[in-house]
Amino acid sequence: MAASYRIGVIPGDGTGPEVVAEGLKALAAAADRNTFSYDLVEYDLGGDRYLKTGETLPGSVLAELKTVHAIYLGAIGHPEVQPGILEQGILLTIRFALDQYINLRPVVLYPGVWTPLRDKKPEDINCLVVRENTEGLYVGSGGFLRKGTPDEVAIQESVNTRKGVERCIRYAFELCRRQKRHKVTLCGKTNVLTYAFDLWERTFHEVAHEYTDIETDYAHVDALCMWMVKNPEWFDVIVTDNMFGDIITDLGAMIQGGMGIAAGGNINPQGVSMFEPIGGSAPKYTGKNIINPLAAIAALAMLLDNIGEENGSHQVENAIKRVVKDDLESMDAGRMGHTTQEVGDLVVKYILES
Ligand code: IPM
Ligand code: MN
Repeated sequence: MAASYRIGVIPGDGTGPEVVAEGLKALAAAADRNTFSYDLVEYDLGGDRYLKTGETLPGSVLAELKTVHAIYLGAIGHPEVQPGILEQGILLTIRFALDQYINLRPVVLYPGVWTPLRDKKPEDINCLVVRENTEGLYVGSGGFLRKGTPDEVAIQESVNTRKGVERCIRYAFELCRRQKRHKVTLCGKTNVLTYAFDLWERTFHEVAHEYTDIETDYAHVDALCMWMVKNPEWFDVIVTDNMFGDIITDLGAMIQGGMGIAAGGNINPQGVSMFEPIGGSAPKYTGKNIINPLAAIAALAMLLDNIGEENGSHQVENAIKRVVKDDLESMDAGRMGHTTQEVGDLVVKYILES
């Protein structure tokens, strides 16, 4: 019997709905070329709903999200909502509640895509960042003392558990092996964060003993930022904590051609995962049909791989590669030489031709 999937869709804010629409066209084309079928369950979450009703993520929606095969997210973030409310109330709540403990962000430069790194080629920029996604500074541990007074104290703690660190590092090694890559680099700050990264470093070495076929390396996060620009070819799989992973993947997105192409997956290897373009809601481009949908379409390719539709995933990825090589003038919104919908149409055409 042909496989059938339930996909939760959260178009979200700003340009989220526009790029998700193009990703869903690619999904339809991939289903057409293969033997699977699917149902979409759309959830109206984001800034508009919050402004209307005061709700971020109702418990009933969260409960339903736990039952789908995968979640496809556009973007969360609204200029009229105070920063933090939607990010914490929706995005981080889903990551945490569904225990999506890996944030996997490929940093891959496709042939034909412009990179700001002069002299660097696709073979130089091809790494996978494995970002821990449920701990660290993101847990919201801490608080204020004497808030608003001259004696104010603000504390924000990084929480690192042996279990959380180990499962993340193990995932990175497994991924390295599965993808026939050769090296895992731990990105940390062992010279200053002597508790948190002591745990990370010890765990890294212990896990590495089980993977003697894989080379290991370590870089402090500040130096890693430098080398990602100067020698990105040194990196293969990078594993790091939540905060550092957040920062280095924005840097990674820029060297792979910008937010128009950068995708990521919030992964629970035993549960429900969520895939998203990493660029945010880009409010100033909303409704103009000029935003680049390829990041969202690349997220859809990751989603297909995650649910076990590897063929469809490859077809979508190859279609993206063809569009960037043959059709797009730039990855940037408004400069692609095509509208958002035209880019989606080209991807669909190439999937169906493949
Ligand atoms: C990301 C985003 C989020 C994060 C924000 C919106 C909470 O920057 O997915 O990288 O920091 O994880
Ligand atoms: Mn980020």
